Amino acid sequence: MANSVYLHIPFCNNICSYCDFCKFYKNDEIINKYLDSLENEIDNDFLGEKLNTLYIGGGTPSCLNNNQLNKLFDITSRFIFNDNYEFTIECNIEDIDEEILELFKNNRVNRLSIGVQSFIKKNLNFLDRNKNIDIISRINLAKKYFDNINIDLIYALKNQSIKDLEKDIDIFLSLDLPHISCYSLIIEPHTKISNIKPINDKLDYDMFKLIDSKLKDYNHYEISNYSKKGYESKHNLTYWNNEEYYGFGLSASSYLNNIRYTNYRNLTKYNEKIYKKEKEILSLEDKMKYEYILKFRLKDGINIKDFNKKYNCNILDNKIIKELINEDKLLIENDNIIVNKKYIYVINEILVKLI
Ligand SMILES: C[S@@+](CC[C@H](N)C(=O)[O-])C[C@H]1O[C@@H](n2cnc3c(N)ncnc32)[C@H](O)[C@@H]1O
Ligand code: SF4
Repeated sequence: MANSVYLHIPFCNNICSYCDFCKFYKNDEIINKYLDSLENEIDNDFLGEKLNTLYIGGGTPSCLNNNQLNKLFDITSRFIFNDNYEFTIECNIEDIDEEILELFKNNRVNRLSIGVQSFIKKNLNFLDRNKNIDIISRINLAKKYFDNINIDLIYALKNQSIKDLEKDIDIFLSLDLPHISCYSLIIEPHTKISNIKPINDKLDYDMFKLIDSKLKDYNHYEISNYSKKGYESKHNLTYWNNEEYYGFGLSASSYLNNIRYTNYRNLTKYNEKIYKKEKEILSLEDKMKYEYILKFRLKDGINIKDFNKKYNCNILDNKIIKELINEDKLLIENDNIIVNKKYIYVINEILVKLI
């Protein structure tokens, strides 16, 4: 039983210098075929549960033309929502105008996630994005239609100073938006910037701390995510809480009935209606590992009683958990085990130990 659905739209107006996601330049003929195949995949696999969350991500879903967006919303019209549902669509700055916002609004979308990455020209040039667009006025336009808006920001960029980052965060604060995701740049192989040198660890950490201190009025509820109270992303919390969900579309993953599936990344295959590639049947031990990897990203970490009940064990008997508590890397707070904020920046090292 899953009450969340992710749909992947792997097309973009433009390919950014750092991006390793599953995406292609948009092409009308291919997109039209893709939407048919997506609809078929949903018809085959979706069991009709009422949804708490629906998330359309990419790629860039907003790069679809009007007819294609109407087809996409025709597909999503089959989903029935519970009260207090969250329906997010990822939207790039260059696609925001009254027409698209109106279309989103009329099709039950109630949350926008806007890829901004930076407000500063130098950074945007480096990222190959949003050049010569008045980002702030586009966001102000989006605010006329939606109150629940996230923006994505990337930091740790080449030649970015602490002052540059401070300016980005100050602009975000001046926009008075309820949610921001801040990611440290990952230099991915096979991208245009694969050969650049990463910034040094100290600067990266200082940037992380700067963001944390400037966003002190926001709830830092996940390593990279900050929200005003009540605006935490319900959909992403499904993933971090290790709950089940459907994923449809190229490269999408699903977690259903104890099995994690990953779809093909090959667009030609997908458009021939060949979908699921990998299947990982989870043992009890695997499930516990996922719980560590996902829940320790959250400020609230793992609830001891819930974990013990779910896995019929005592988490505090785990040797590595004990060690990490002794090393002060994990803390027990009320009934929860959480990552000590001092060490959250090196959470990957902690997780590697645990799994
Ligand atoms: C799945 S991407 C797609 C969203 C949308 N197409 C866009 O570019 O705004 C979601 C977010 O991941 C982040 N991201 C993508 N590649 C990254 C990288 N190499 N390092 C850090 N963050 C990255 C960006 O902030 C991006 O907005
Ligand atoms: S970052 Fe977003 S817009 Fe840029 S290529 Fe990747 S998916 Fe497309």
